[in-house]
Amino acid sequence: MGATAFSLLPKMSFAKHFSEAKQNEELIRLAVIGKGRMGTTNLKASLTTKMSQLTAVCDVYEKRLQETIDEYGKEILISRNYRDIIHSDKVDAVIIATPDHLHQKIALEAMKAGKHIYCEKPIIYRIAEGKELIRAQKENKVIFQTGSQGVSAWGTELARLITESGLIGPVNLIEGEFTIAPNDLKSFVTPKDANESTIAWDRFLENAPKRPFDAQRFFQWRGWQDYSSGLAGDLFVHVIASVHYIMQAQGPERVYSTGGLNYYRDGTRDLPEVMLSYLDYPNMGNKGAFTLALRANLVDGISKKWSSTDFTMIGTKGTMRVEWNTITLKTRTRIPNELFKGLMSLGVGEPKKTVVQNQHIYEFSKVKGLGSAHVNHHKNFLQAIKNGEKLRADIDFGIKSATAALLCNESYLQKSAIKWNSKQI
Ligand SMILES: NC(=O)c1ccc[n+]([C@@H]2O[C@H](COP(=O)([O-])OP(=O)(O)OC[C@H]3O[C@@H](n4cnc5c(N)ncnc54)[C@H](O)[C@@H]3O)[C@@H](O)[C@H]2O)c1
Repeated sequence: MGATAFSLLPKMSFAKHFSEAKQNEELIRLAVIGKGRMGTTNLKASLTTKMSQLTAVCDVYEKRLQETIDEYGKEILISRNYRDIIHSDKVDAVIIATPDHLHQKIALEAMKAGKHIYCEKPIIYRIAEGKELIRAQKENKVIFQTGSQGVSAWGTELARLITESGLIGPVNLIEGEFTIAPNDLKSFVTPKDANESTIAWDRFLENAPKRPFDAQRFFQWRGWQDYSSGLAGDLFVHVIASVHYIMQAQGPERVYSTGGLNYYRDGTRDLPEVMLSYLDYPNMGNKGAFTLALRANLVDGISKKWSSTDFTMIGTKGTMRVEWNTITLKTRTRIPNELFKGLMSLGVGEPKKTVVQNQHIYEFSKVKGLGSAHVNHHKNFLQAIKNGEKLRADIDFGIKSATAALLCNESYLQKSAIKWNSKQI
């Protein structure tokens, strides 16, 4: 552990990086396409920056449009057809938060209409969709931010600095897991107002296979491969994106998956309920060649780790638990004070230090006033539009992290390891 390790770190200050950006008077006119759970969360995060204003909303479910009018007023342009929104001259940028199968199609058309894009992860639903998306972004010169807000989290940034400093040594394994007990998944009850007149079923399907109206598929689209990229696209991709950011990884060389669908055999899903994937990454910049081990289990009798995006990085000299607002670093030997001084000069607060069974444990907590990961991610998007600020999750980043997740599905389906070269994109 070299005493000068932190002098090698990039000259950036946490406080400066996450500070309130100087705001321009002019607000970016924002539309939301898909105003469900994440569309609403994204909208609130964007408005919190005070750099945008809502001008339009598209959703295929009447209730969401009514909620929009009730909350934001009748002057908001609303439609069930996303083309009305992307061709509107009242819109500069769109947030795409529909089910996965629609992301690439809507993003492509919106970019061709000259709109800037904030697209939910995974930005592609099939690996082959990536090339056309990149071409459209280059041709239309619009800003494209991937909705992997974890890369704008304080903890992710600190994990990157600590990894780069060599404090945990070369990384060899990274582990993340998501589990939920089956009882926590409430059985589906069709909302009273949901029918073919209140839901534009054909617009929900778009390119997906045609089938009669089915409220369960509409509301619980995550369980169905026609609309969802499964546990990998929904959950693994969060950890994959943060790991790509921390390790500056371009993508795995090899992916193996297994899992199954044995409990939910009641016709409510066709995607696996248990999935384990191992992604092998090459050594980049001497940070270590490592395997990313991910697992998700929807039918874990008692466990409760759903929605968490935390993971553990294991290196030859120590380990690091990475959460958005906390970092727990454990090392074999005491870290010299001058190294901590280096970290603190970057705006990181002093860690709580303990020694347990010869392990030196350092707990770092986010300094107050730095803003949430989600708001910072939207701020980064809006600053990129206004001032050309560098994006934290641009289209290339989004496609590489989505592809790594989609490779997990490919391996599961093919029941074999898949080799990959990120230059293939
Ligand atoms: N970044 C994150 O932390 C995070 C968290 C949750 C979900 N997501 C992503 O956000 C997306 C949406 O997930 P959600 O949980 O909000 O789902 P949701 O079902 O709550 O919302 C989806 C919305 O899209 C609407 N919709 C469906 N087809 C449409 C169409 N053709 N045009 C316009 N609207 C349409 C639905 O009516 C619904 O309101 C997914 O891709 C998911 O992976 C990201």
